[in-house]
Amino acid sequence: MFVLGLQGSPRKKGNSVHLLNRFLAECENNGARTRVIQMDGLDIQPCKELVVCEKKGFCPIKDEMEPRIYGLIRTADVVVLASPVFFYNVSAQAKILIDRCQMFWGRRYKMKLADPDAGSRQGVLLAVGASGGKRLFDGVKLTAHYFFDAISARFAESLTYKNVEAAGEVMSVPGVDQDIQQAAQRVMDAVQKKPTLVFVSKKDACRGQIAAAYAKMASEGRIRVLSAGIDPAGEIQADTRDFLADQGVDIKYGQPRSLDGLMAEEFNKQPPSLVIRMTADAIPALGGETQFWDMDDAQDVTSVASLAEEIRDRVDRLISDFQSRYQSG
Ligand SMILES: Cc1cc2nc3c(=O)[nH]c(=O)nc-3n(C[C@H](O)[C@H](O)[C@H](O)COP(=O)(O)O)c2cc1C
Repeated sequence: MFVLGLQGSPRKKGNSVHLLNRFLAECENNGARTRVIQMDGLDIQPCKELVVCEKKGFCPIKDEMEPRIYGLIRTADVVVLASPVFFYNVSAQAKILIDRCQMFWGRRYKMKLADPDAGSRQGVLLAVGASGGKRLFDGVKLTAHYFFDAISARFAESLTYKNVEAAGEVMSVPGVDQDIQQAAQRVMDAVQKKPTLVFVSKKDACRGQIAAAYAKMASEGRIRVLSAGIDPAGEIQADTRDFLADQGVDIKYGQPRSLDGLMAEEFNKQPPSLVIRMTADAIPALGGETQFWDMDDAQDVTSVASLAEEIRDRVDRLISDFQSRYQSG
């Protein structure tokens, strides 16, 4: 599980930093991998309103957004936005990054490309302000709401603290520690308490990616779906990405994962419920049940369309069966 922190304060020891670090530490204690982007130091330009993203689905500005930050956002299970209130909104540093995520908005709403992880990604807002007015966080919350929507994340948690001015003062506000601990726990539970389905293939570049994308879309976030390769490729195959994009499924920023990495990072709390082996090669025991799908993986793929059709049929049957067997309630 990957939690990405977006730190919007220019103060290196400020309140937002403290809140974010505390939140991420709690996630790490629960087995998550975390990473922080300090938005103040980023080499990114503000949106120039070129509108290329709304027509072609990419941002032509060449800087750190593409592919690094876009990729981190798209691979995160949880995106945590931490910012001080600056003139009743997020800081300018945070706003630059948020505006550049119009690229995701364009892909989602103009190009009608659905992120398969839309049903499971969560957004968390942490914010602080010096004054005490009732509407202090209205602007920040609205911006966060539309930012999370653009990056296909559910706005899961919001922790806001008023009357906090001096750097680091927020951590002495009564109840802060407990708030963070409980919010982080809820966010982690929402991921880790789901039954997990894993597709293991040779390269995780085609068959596994297609199966995982279809399974995510079909289960709408109710199942945690992962894929990995025994010997992962460097990139997802271009024809696989293109084929799925033609079907409205957006895996542009997806990456093949290694089975070793997956085992180390994802199953430390709970083993998967079901593993689908899509390769003739043997795989290590991951816990849970394993099924074998004979997908002829010694052959190069000649037609992604016919392969995808076969996978879709299998996935549709699998998901209805999986839900009745492994999901409670
Ligand atoms: C440029 C600027 C604008 C600010 N605007 C507001 C504001 O509109 N409302 C408010 O309550 N505090 C405002 N503040 C105060 C900060 O939100 C407050 O000091 C906060 O604790 C700083 O968080 P940090 O340590 O994470 O940077 C502003 C501070 C600065 C520097």
